[in-house]
Amino acid sequence: MKIGVLTGGGDCPGLNAVIRAVVKKAEKQGDSVLGIKNGWAGLINGLVEPLTDFSVTGILPRGGTILGTSRTNPFKNQESLQKCLVNFKRYALEALIAIGGEDTLGVAKRFADEGLPVVGCPKTIDNDLPGTDQTFGFDTAANIAMEAIDRLHSTAESHHRIMVVEVMGRESGWIATIAGLAGGADYICVPERPYEIDEVVAVLKRRHERGKGFSIVVVAEGAFPKGGKPVTQEAGVDEFGHVRLGGVGTLLARELEHKLGVETRVTILGHIQRGGSPTAYDRVLATRYGLRAFDLAKEKKFGRMVALRGSEIIDVPLPDPEVGKRTLDMALYSDAEVFFG
Ligand code: F6P
Repeated sequence: MKIGVLTGGGDCPGLNAVIRAVVKKAEKQGDSVLGIKNGWAGLINGLVEPLTDFSVTGILPRGGTILGTSRTNPFKNQESLQKCLVNFKRYALEALIAIGGEDTLGVAKRFADEGLPVVGCPKTIDNDLPGTDQTFGFDTAANIAMEAIDRLHSTAESHHRIMVVEVMGRESGWIATIAGLAGGADYICVPERPYEIDEVVAVLKRRHERGKGFSIVVVAEGAFPKGGKPVTQEAGVDEFGHVRLGGVGTLLARELEHKLGVETRVTILGHIQRGGSPTAYDRVLATRYGLRAFDLAKEKKFGRMVALRGSEIIDVPLPDPEVGKRTLDMALYSDAEVFFG
């Protein structure tokens, strides 16, 4: 069988582990794998590269993706769509494994609905894909954010400051909550629960009055105050209609300093959360996803996505973007709240 593989959307640690698993299993079974470069852009423009055991040697610990990625949407215009269909035939692909988040898998679903042999593999540091308990890349990002919080603790304490840490996550508070809970945050602001500045101030004030001279506040980039809206970095949207979030941490820090009279600094972690080597958890999850995605292709279970359910890898229909995102488990947030202040 000839199987195509592509990685689309924002990169994240673990992408190479999926590619490696697909290629190694394919070689063992006598199947061939064609790497499509730069996400859907590679299928549009015919940018491909055969992948062998040698192409994937040594890539397990490497962040990013050896195939490159893009946020290209082939359904944006008829010409791109036609080129994809032509190239699909030209390369004689009998199956395509699309590794991506809601946008890439949304495209995969549309292609599958039109009869193309496509299966999906869920990635994103945001952990916001419905249908799976966890996406790969999330664990690494949450660990990077936790480590940053640990480091900020010591300098916050020395200077008797409030440290505001802004993390990624788009419209979900998974990274903020897991990293905040693991790092002992004194307050966590998430998009799923708009914050009230007076409440944040009251919690930190009580803490400072108890003699604790510093605080750590974790804020998700998509968080916003009650009655307000998310902060964006610039006007305009990408090919999938997403705004670029970012900057709420700076606004929050300014307000906290003003209302509490405590020196406050902000750290925006940004793309650091997407870089570098995957954790053991993500390497294993991504590897298991890759192996099962290969099986789905071989079994011709098109229109399906590999997913984690408990500790098992199962398959589910490719998520419909209309269904919306997987939001934060608020029970987890309530657990984190116990440690506020
Ligand atoms: O979806 C992953 C993500 O890292 C989000 O958390 C973030 O908002 C966005 O991508 C950033 O995108 P870009 O790499 O295009 O700046």
